[in-house]
Amino acid sequence: MKIPRAFLRALCLTAFALVAGGALAQQAAVPAPQPKPGQYSEKGADTCLECHADDDGVYSGSALFRSKHALRGDRRAPFGAGGLQCEACHGPGALHARNKRASAIIGFKSTGKATAAERNQICMTCHAGGTRTAWHAGTHERNEVACSDCHQVHRSHGDPMLAKARQNESCLSCHKSQRADFQKTSSHPVRQGLVACSDCHNAHGAGTPGMLARPTLNQTCNSCHADKRGPVLWEHAPVAEDCALCHQPHGSVRSALLVKSPPQLCQACHSTSGHPSVPRTPANLPGGAAGGAVFTVAGSCSNCHTQVHGSNHPSGAKLLR
Ligand code: HEC
Ligand code: HEC
Ligand code: HEC
Ligand code: HEC
Ligand code: HEC
Ligand code: HEC
Ligand code: HEC
Ligand code: HEC
Ligand code: HEC
Ligand code: HEC
Repeated sequence: MKIPRAFLRALCLTAFALVAGGALAQQAAVPAPQPKPGQYSEKGADTCLECHADDDGVYSGSALFRSKHALRGDRRAPFGAGGLQCEACHGPGALHARNKRASAIIGFKSTGKATAAERNQICMTCHAGGTRTAWHAGTHERNEVACSDCHQVHRSHGDPMLAKARQNESCLSCHKSQRADFQKTSSHPVRQGLVACSDCHNAHGAGTPGMLARPTLNQTCNSCHADKRGPVLWEHAPVAEDCALCHQPHGSVRSALLVKSPPQLCQACHSTSGHPSVPRTPANLPGGAAGGAVFTVAGSCSNCHTQVHGSNHPSGAKLLR
């Protein structure tokens, strides 16, 4: 059975007072001993909420209580039966509740004394596994990004990671060059909030290059562009190999997120001898001496080779139909 310390203290004092008689009882009360670092507060959240009830923009008491962390029926949650409540995340806080010093509590600030790894370990005591199995192999872990750099567990507007549009904004606050990619004329509709970083990436870490959410780049793309998955009768080899041979995943200044515009795109692989690749020289442009115009204008190669991703037509071997 647990007997609260304060109660014991009061009991001792009363007993002492009874024995010693009225004289002693008139003296100043013995100051309660300072709680030691590592001690939990006696009344859990009730202690903390005496001072931290308000919404100050960074911390909202009520927001936390609307979240899954406050579910009393979930034994795994900080506020579940037997849980340590606020102190499940902030660590033992009896001393802090007395001295009000920031140094006596874990505040999840990058300027605080706890390292990113230590702060992350607190969350990981409950959240290891799931999509975080590869957390320790991930680029974010290695670069000391903390769970709380992305997640906000008690803000009144909710956790930005769990809402597509706000998640993107928050990732892009660190990833500036990717922000520029998504402004390009042809780009995945991330700015519009229709596609999220987490549709393609596992921000928690993955064994794939670029922490992709699926085992390969093509599987990632095909999870939405299923029509490109195949199999097709006449395959175009680079398509099955790697979409990124021709496309920039985030965005491009060329149409359809292309890395180069045709004919250069195609000519990067197809030799310049014979029909296929007529170099885009002045002589080959319309009216030029070599008269190869038909192969180099506008959509050029794909004017005829429309089936760049492969063809299912019986006579589509040259990707013409
Ligand atoms: C008696 C009032 C009081 C109580 C009780 C109290 N705090 Fe605080 N707390 C403060 C004050 C004041 C600050 C601001 C300290 C500063 O900025 O130097 C603070 C700061 C914090 C911070 C931010 C630390 C940082 O790194 O900036 C956290 C987190 C915190 N308290 C959590 C708790 C928890 C959890 C409890 C309950 C165990 C609790 N507090 C109980 C007064 C209190
Ligand atoms: C699930 C873990 C978790 C629980 C439970 C939790 N906190 Fe926090 N707390 C955090 C994190 C993470 C931060 C850092 C700011 C953020 O991400 O929103 C934080 C920040 C704070 C801050 C500092 C805000 C600032 O000024 O920087 C205070 C104060 C605070 N919490 C108090 C509490 C109190 C009081 C409770 C219980 C009612 C509580 N926390 C429960 C994780 C938690
Ligand atoms: C004492 C255990 C515990 C700790 C510590 C803890 N969590 Fe949780 N967390 C939970 C439980 C339980 C859930 C609900 C899971 C569910 O319903 O699947 C949850 C849910 C979440 C969710 C999903 C919320 C939603 O609405 O779906 C996020 C994000 C999260 N926690 C982040 C964190 C972060 C960040 C930390 C560290 C600052 C942390 N948690 C610390 C137990 C914990
Ligand atoms: C770089 C940003 C980022 C970091 C760092 C990060 N997360 Fe997440 N987290 C996300 C995103 C994005 C989602 C939503 C994923 C989705 O919708 O598939 C998410 C979802 C979650 C969820 C809810 C879904 C689930 O898997 O149960 C939990 C819990 C969670 N994260 C815990 C953590 C913990 C613990 C850490 C630190 C070890 C952490 N996260 C670090 C971005 C991050
Ligand atoms: C606090 C800053 C920060 C936030 C927020 C952040 N990242 Fe990162 N991220 C980094 C750092 C640092 C690196 C490693 C250096 C680099 O590649 O820029 C990185 C690397 C990456 C990489 C490259 C992985 C690799 O192995 O090449 C991807 C992908 C990534 N982040 C995605 C995301 C996504 C998705 C989000 C939002 C859910 C996000 N990041 C939020 C800091 C951040
Ligand atoms: C349509 C899928 C897709 C979306 C959406 C997406 N990415 Fe990527 N991202 C990729 C692919 C594919 C790579 C290249 C992976 C590789 O190295 O093979 C990549 C690479 C990265 C890298 C590594 C450096 C680089 O640019 O090559 C970072 C950082 C990154 N992405 C961040 C983000 C962020 C932040 C968001 C959301 C704002 C985001 N990505 C959205 C597919 C996507
Ligand atoms: C989450 C689903 C999703 C994933 C995953 C995805 N895409 Fe997309 N993709 C879209 C959406 C939505 C559009 C916009 C369609 C529109 O504007 O009509 C788009 C547009 C495109 C376009 C441009 C279409 C045009 O005509 O401008 C290309 C090319 C493309 N994606 C290639 C890729 C590649 C390559 C990958 C893998 C790296 C990929 N996509 C992964 C959803 C996705
Ligand atoms: C050999 C270069 C090449 C490769 C590899 C390639 N694409 Fe494309 N893709 C193109 C070209 C060229 C266009 C523009 C087509 C047009 O003008 O009709 C295009 C257009 C697209 C479009 C928009 C138009 C449409 O057909 O829906 C999507 C989506 C797309 N590609 C997805 C993919 C995916 C997914 C992969 C990987 C499985 C991939 N591409 C691999 C060259 C390529
Ligand atoms: C990354 C290199 C690469 C790029 C870029 C590329 N291709 Fe290909 N292409 C190949 C390979 C490899 C083959 C298969 C050659 C073989 O089977 O002999 C092929 C086959 C073809 C074929 C069928 C040839 C045959 O002999 O059956 C056509 C037509 C073709 N490509 C057109 C294009 C067009 C049009 C583009 C530009 C939109 C393009 N390719 C871009 C690598 C590429
Ligand atoms: C005016 C239509 C047209 C244009 C434009 C065109 N092609 Fe072709 N291409 C064809 C036809 C028709 C064939 C099939 C020839 C055959 O079956 O013998 C072919 C065949 C090919 C082949 C298969 C190899 C071969 O010699 O049979 C490749 C590779 C190829 N083209 C690439 C290209 C590239 C790269 C471009 C752009 C520089 C391009 N084509 C532009 C019509 C065109």
